Amino acid sequence: MISNNIDVNEKGHLTFQGVDTVDLAQEFGTPLYLIDEDRIEDRCKEYISAISEFLGEGSFPCYAGKALCYTDLYRTLERLGMWIDVVSTGEIYTAKKAGFDLSRAMFHGNNKTDDDIKYAISENVGRFVCDSEDEICAIDEIAKSINKKVKILIRLTPGIDPHTHKAINTGTVESKFGVAIDTGDAEKLIKETLKKENLILMGYHCHIGSQIFEFEPFCEAADKMLTFSKKIKDAYSFEAKEINLGGGMAVPYLESDKKISYRDNIRELGKFIDTLLKKLSLSRPIFYMEPGRSIVADSGMTLYTVGSVKEINGYKNYVSVDGGMADNPRYALYESPYTVINASFADKDKDYLATIGGRCCESGDLIQENVSLAKPKRRDILAVCTTGAYNYSMASNYNRLPKPALVTLKGGKARISVKRETLEDITKCDV
Ligand code: LLP
Repeated sequence: MISNNIDVNEKGHLTFQGVDTVDLAQEFGTPLYLIDEDRIEDRCKEYISAISEFLGEGSFPCYAGKALCYTDLYRTLERLGMWIDVVSTGEIYTAKKAGFDLSRAMFHGNNKTDDDIKYAISENVGRFVCDSEDEICAIDEIAKSINKKVKILIRLTPGIDPHTHKAINTGTVESKFGVAIDTGDAEKLIKETLKKENLILMGYHCHIGSQIFEFEPFCEAADKMLTFSKKIKDAYSFEAKEINLGGGMAVPYLESDKKISYRDNIRELGKFIDTLLKKLSLSRPIFYMEPGRSIVADSGMTLYTVGSVKEINGYKNYVSVDGGMADNPRYALYESPYTVINASFADKDKDYLATIGGRCCESGDLIQENVSLAKPKRRDILAVCTTGAYNYSMASNYNRLPKPALVTLKGGKARISVKRETLEDITKCDV
C-alpha cells in the first residue's frame, strides 16, 4: 500500500489506521476527510528530534498550517510544543481558539494588511516574516503607534530553482515572494531595517518551493543564506540569530514515487551546515524548518460514494463521485497524482481503467485520470489516498456544495473534528 496506515480487512474493505473505511463512510457520510492524528504526531516528533539533533539545540520545526488547518489539530500541535507558520488572521484565530501559545507562531504572507498587522501584534504573534520594504515600514509604524517592539525575520529569495511544479516554485529571483539576494535588494533592505526602532531583526527566512524530493536544494539554500549572513555581518556587524529554511519536503503520492526519509535528509543537511558554519566562521544560529505537506499528507484520506459509471465505448470510462474539485482542487490546478482505491472491494484485482470525475459542472473537475482499480459500481466507496495536505485547506463551496466533515482517527477511535457543512451554513452570510 502507498502508506503503512492503509490495509485491507477480512471483508475485503480498505482500512485506514486499522478502521474499516466502508463503515466510516456509512457512519459519517461522504465525501469525508479522514485524518490519522497518530501519524501527524509521529511526523511532528520525527521533525522535532531530527532538527534539534542535526541542526542544533533550540532549532525547531514550524508546522505550515496552510497545508491543513482546523482547531483540533492546533490542540495537538500545542501539546507537542510545535512552532507554527500562519498566513492569515483566520489561521491565527484558529490557533488561538485551540489555546495555542502564539509566541511560537511565525506570521507569513506577501501582503499583510494593516489590520492583519495590528491583529497579529495584539495577539503577541512571536515573529513576523517580512516580505517587502512596504511591509517593514508598516509594521514599524504600527508597532511604534502602540509602543511595542516586534521580532522579525526577512524573507529572502535565494535564487534557487528546485525543479518542482511552476505553481509551487518560490525561490527564484522573479518570485512574488521575498527580497532577492542576487539583485542587491536584500542587502539594501537590511541596512534600512536595522535603523527601525520598533523592529528587532532576528534573521532571515527562505522557502524555495514544495514537493521537493532531494535534500541538495535545501543545502544550496542554506549555503546562499549563510553566505549572505556572513556578508551582512562583515558589512554591518549584524549577525543573524535565526535562519528559517522554509518547508517543501516531498511526499510519495503513487507506489512508483521515491520513498523519502525526512530524518536522513535533515541529517545530510545538518552535516552540510556544520561544514559551512566552520568555513564562514559564523556562530550557529537557531534553524527553523517549515514542513506542511510532509507532516500531514499521508495522514489523510478522502472517501467518496460512487454515483454513475459511464463507459464511452472506444474512448474512456468515467467513474463519477459525490465530491471533486470543491473538496480537492489539486488535479484541476496541478494535475497532481493520487492513488485511488475501490474501498468496498480492496481485495479484488485492479483491472478497470477509469477517469474519476467530480460532481461539479466543469469538465476539468477530475480527481484523477487513467487509474486502475477494481471495477466500481454505484454506491461503492472510493478512497483517494494521501489527501491530508492542501485538500481541506483549499476546499471551496463551488456549485454551493457544503464542505465535507473531517473525522480524526486516534488509537483506532474516530471522532468528528470538523462538522459537515449544512445547507444553512451555505447561506449563513447571505443577507
Ligand atoms: N513555508 C512557506 C513560506 C510556504 O509558502 C509553504 C508552502 C510552506 C512553508 C510549506 O511547504 P510544504 O512543506 O507544505 O511543501 N497548494 C500547493 C502547495 C503550495 C505551497 C505553498 N507554500 C499544493 O497543493 O501542492
